[in-house]
Amino acid sequence: MMAREDMPLAGMRLGLFGKGGAGKSTVTVLLADALVKRGYSVLVLDADSTNVGLAGALGIPRDPDPLLDYFGGMVFSGGLVTCPVDDPTPLQGAAVSIREIPERFVGHRDGLRLMVAGKMGALGPGAGCDGPVAKIARDLVVEDLGPEHVVLVDFKAGFEDSARGVVTSLDWGLVVVDPTVAAVQMAVHLSSMVDKIRAGVPPATQHLLERGDLVELAIRIFRDARVRGVAATLNRVADPSTESYLRVALTDRKIPVMGSFGADRTVEEQWLRGRRVQSAVLAQEAVTLVQNLELLVGRAQAVSTA
Ligand SMILES: Nc1ncnc2c1ncn2[C@@H]1O[C@H](COP(=O)(O)OP(=O)(O)O)[C@@H](O)[C@H]1O
Ligand SMILES: [Mg+2]
Repeated sequence: MMAREDMPLAGMRLGLFGKGGAGKSTVTVLLADALVKRGYSVLVLDADSTNVGLAGALGIPRDPDPLLDYFGGMVFSGGLVTCPVDDPTPLQGAAVSIREIPERFVGHRDGLRLMVAGKMGALGPGAGCDGPVAKIARDLVVEDLGPEHVVLVDFKAGFEDSARGVVTSLDWGLVVVDPTVAAVQMAVHLSSMVDKIRAGVPPATQHLLERGDLVELAIRIFRDARVRGVAATLNRVADPSTESYLRVALTDRKIPVMGSFGADRTVEEQWLRGRRVQSAVLAQEAVTLVQNLELLVGRAQAVSTA
């Protein structure tokens, strides 16, 4: 799509990744608020099947119903939605106008919408695996969100979903890096996975060998991936020496650092009490993150159209 030059993030789909507790959801909330303030309309897709609390943190009073129900439930419970590893087939009806999605599946706040792919907690024993949630995160395309919309996908911790192919439908991956070696490693892994996808390295399909059509489909989905790259933002950085250590560790590995959020006691308290997550200091840092992302994405856009 044609992005407005002064709003280079328009139409972009950004995925937030990182190790457990790194701050994916916190950064999702802060980034969403900063994008809304900048004039974008934002759809947050909660793709973390394991954690709750994002609606409250966004200041949305009610948890929307999971899209897993909208799309007909998990295959493991007799439903329609399959795991993208066993069955790469695109989700039926995944492109849907916001006007067609019933209210109960959409949380609202000024300029901001929230949808939830699905939660494992409610599904009972033997529900299978959460692959179907990843398929919704991979394939859902919400139409008619307006020309200046941005989609933020808040993933669950770790690497599993990206290996299941969710990165193929993103424009950019943003890794949240807290001050741990594991968090840096996560950024390095994701970045090298995206490099491999962009270089045409096919996905693992040994388990599909009986189904040549599915092998072909899986390979095509990865080959047609739109993902441009991976960037990082630091989080919970308590002092300047930690910040410079992390910046060097990431830029040495060619991962651009787009932002840095300090450690903030009030935010911890807000997560504890299920309140809206907001902090004047972190909001300012989120403005910088948006500016840097706009520069990065705008530059990549200019290169690809040159
Ligand atoms: N910048 C921050 N300052 C202080 N505490 C933070 C910050 N970011 C995250 N936290 C704390 O870490 C916890 C995990 O953050 P969260 O965003 O839920 O991580 P993730 O989504 O990556 O699992 C939060 O409940 C909060 O207490
Ligand atoms: Mg989270």
